[in-house]
Amino acid sequence: MKISVIGAGYVGLTTAACLAQIGHDVFCSESDLDKLNKLRNGIMPLFEPHLEKVIRLNRESGRLTFGSTEEAIDHGRAIFICVGTPPLTNGDADLSAIEGVARSIAKRATGYRLVIEKSTVPVQTGSQLRKHLSVHRRNGLEYDVASNPEFLREGSAVEDLLHPDRIVVGVDSSRAAELLREIYEPITQGNFACPVHPDCRKVKDPVLLMTDISSAELIKHASNSFLAMKISFINMVANLCEVVGADVTKVAEGMGLDPRIGPAFLNPGIGFGGFCFPKDVQAFIRIAEKSACDFSLLKEVEKINQRRIEHFIEKIRKELWVIRGKTLAVWGLAFKPNTDDVRFAPSIALIKALLDEGAFIRAYDPQAVEKTRTLLPNITYCADPYEAAEGTDAILIATEWDEFRQMNWERLRSSVERPLIVDGRNMLEVSALTRCGFHYLSVGRPAVAPLEAGPAGSRAYSGARTEGLTADLLAS
Ligand code: UGA
Repeated sequence: MKISVIGAGYVGLTTAACLAQIGHDVFCSESDLDKLNKLRNGIMPLFEPHLEKVIRLNRESGRLTFGSTEEAIDHGRAIFICVGTPPLTNGDADLSAIEGVARSIAKRATGYRLVIEKSTVPVQTGSQLRKHLSVHRRNGLEYDVASNPEFLREGSAVEDLLHPDRIVVGVDSSRAAELLREIYEPITQGNFACPVHPDCRKVKDPVLLMTDISSAELIKHASNSFLAMKISFINMVANLCEVVGADVTKVAEGMGLDPRIGPAFLNPGIGFGGFCFPKDVQAFIRIAEKSACDFSLLKEVEKINQRRIEHFIEKIRKELWVIRGKTLAVWGLAFKPNTDDVRFAPSIALIKALLDEGAFIRAYDPQAVEKTRTLLPNITYCADPYEAAEGTDAILIATEWDEFRQMNWERLRSSVERPLIVDGRNMLEVSALTRCGFHYLSVGRPAVAPLEAGPAGSRAYSGARTEGLTADLLAS
């Protein structure tokens, strides 16, 4: 099918590339000319595993083309709107980009178009979209409107799009339902060449859930808000664990074994970030407020998340006594691993707060340095984690990149000023660190002192707690 995707951000670009990969003839437009030129010249404007390859293959085969919004409106029978919906200062989603695209479609398109909202939008955007298309149409546009929220995660976007758990489609006509069924048929039938798993026939059986448009819109906001709530919940449990000397990893494991709870999204840390959860929770609160529903539960979720950085800094402060004048390594800048996205990244809030307290920062991230430079021009960027750690009073882990698990701790021990690690993502194996003389603080677990600092042959823990530590440590 001829499909257009308007907006080449993380969602738009992945959607365009994957729809081409499953066999459609896709035209993707981008209004930022610099980004568009990059895409036309085969340069990736963002980092996302597998995406570069999928784009290259499909451009070569002629199934994926980049260009202007006008060309996209002319091309596709189905048009996916994937433009940004950033937060306004009052928490509402800014829908001006969607409005602009709807107006352009209405004025330019001739004949039938299925206009699909893919961007995360407040409930009832579909009816506004329909109204807008009708008011501004000039050239005999006939249309249906649909909502098809995206559930992909940055860092595994291609995999999530091609192997989803569910495809949610909100429609109010059988024509729209049929077109969307046809678009996704290669995925629901497992009938496409998978660029991620070369041998796979079908990794999962996705559920294609057809609903009305408002329900589909709500599913997206409710899902993200629920996941954010799970994270804030476990972060509060982590706080409690720190006070009573329990191990939040064990608590989360025990909770997650109950299939009604499930183990996912129970990793405590320095809070959720990225361009989705923080803005979607805010937007959902505003949607509820406007509908006179008191969703104060979500206000707490947001507050708990906002307090994570101060809580983390308090831990650092307790160890270092004074932060002013200290040099600190920050490992990880992206809001999560396997992406270069630093929008609303907890690392940025952390570094800003530490700079305000007079610290010097040496930062490293395998992908996100370029995107951080404009936000934080006055810190030292390093080529690798070893360089970042040189001469520092503490290594702070803000993002759980895999490479931090395989460090040479002996080498690091000899280059730091003070062997202290504050792990905001609970990602490291304790025994390797403590054997090399590091003092290790994490989230919701007892602090662990270096082996060499304790009585001969014994383990020493700051706070003298041994209960609930990882099996790794207990076995060491
Ligand atoms: C999220 C959702 O997971 C996707 O389903 C959704 O499509 C997407 O938002 C969106 O609305 O576009 P994403 O923001 O890419 O995806 O990343 P997540 O993996 O959900 O992580 C979000 C944040 O929560 C990260 O900062 C991560 O570090 C944090 N997190 C996640 C935790 O602190 N603990 C956890 O257990 C899980």
